[in-house]
Amino acid sequence: MTTIAVIPGDGIGPEVIGPALDVLDALRLEVRTDVLDHVNAETYLRTGTPLTEADIDRIRSSEVALLGAVGDPRLSDTAYVRGILTTLRLELDLYVNYRPARLWHDRLSPLRDPDRRAIDCVIVRENTEGLYSGIGGGTRTGTPQEIAIDVDLSTRQGVSRVLEFAFSVARRSVCLVDKANAVRNGGQLWQRCWSEAVAGNPHVETSHLYVDTAALRLATDPTAFDVIVTNNSYGDILSDLTAALAGGLGVAASANLNPVTGQGLFEPVHGSAPDIAGTGTANPLGAILSVALLVEHLGRTEEADAVRRAVAATVATDRVTPDLGGSLSTEEVGAAVLMELRRP
Ligand code: NAD
Ligand code: IPM
Ligand code: MN
Repeated sequence: MTTIAVIPGDGIGPEVIGPALDVLDALRLEVRTDVLDHVNAETYLRTGTPLTEADIDRIRSSEVALLGAVGDPRLSDTAYVRGILTTLRLELDLYVNYRPARLWHDRLSPLRDPDRRAIDCVIVRENTEGLYSGIGGGTRTGTPQEIAIDVDLSTRQGVSRVLEFAFSVARRSVCLVDKANAVRNGGQLWQRCWSEAVAGNPHVETSHLYVDTAALRLATDPTAFDVIVTNNSYGDILSDLTAALAGGLGVAASANLNPVTGQGLFEPVHGSAPDIAGTGTANPLGAILSVALLVEHLGRTEEADAVRRAVAATVATDRVTPDLGGSLSTEEVGAAVLMELRRP
């Protein structure tokens, strides 16, 4: 039986994981959950350890994991959030961050022009290298001569495997986004790997954009894109942009994947949202759609489609939280999705 490690986390994390687990239950799959509800900022503040070896082992031994969100306003340095998210992505070598953006209803997008609305694209974000490598250091700290260095790491293996994944999920086209006109060494490595990937996939339409132009094109005509493949930092930023175009962070889902080992960590794109935590208004759809990605990863395509249809029906009938212009609570939206899911 498949085990799903569940990390509700902080802030709205546990609030959206509740309805997401209800949806998972309703699918009646042969799975069990292993809930790590001690992995949160409280524990870190008390113990100084974000994630123990035992926690990592529990997550590693589960085939997949589901995470709400981590982050706490009392913790401003990178140690806590990196100590969970980046550690898991690196420890489990989850080298793909798959972030689909699909517009669930016309009225949700800031783009009102009907010709610009058919948003259905995916950011494939390299998830283990770049500026997240953790390599670097500082000197003369606290002095006017202070120097800080964070290494923007690109390896041939890391780049070529994420490009390969991007082509494997392309429906129409793949667009490489980089900054090879300014970032010399990494830029050239990405460009060389890209030329090889393009040559190996002659039937897929391809294009290349610098990241500034990509942001501009996404905002003016997101329908031009299918798969966008890019590095860790640009993928982080552009996936918030595509989320906004498709209705906001509240509906954005993601998968951290290792396509070789099959391991996956599924999570909404949003964080712990301390500004709305405890108000009962967090949108659970990003977490619910992350469950759809999770069950699809387990081979249950029909169940994943059923969840997405239930979400689409809920949005179409305006049973949504305030971020989508509605007045329902997290729980009420969760209940509406369950009702749609159970509809014969
Ligand atoms: P955030 O995603 O938590 O919130 C950004 C804005 O979007 C806020 O105004 C918030 O209210 C809104 N929002 C987010 N999710 C929502 C939802 N489901 N429903 C309705 N509104 C929603 O980003 P932030 O404020 O920059 O970060 C807060 C904390 O979360 C920080 O500690 C950050 O490091 C962490 N963080 C964690 C993750 C993660 O766990 N994957 C991702 C991003 C940020
Ligand atoms: C995300 C988040 C994380 C990231 C942060 C919280 C470290 O923004 O998952 O998009 O940058 O990867
Ligand atoms: Mn982000």
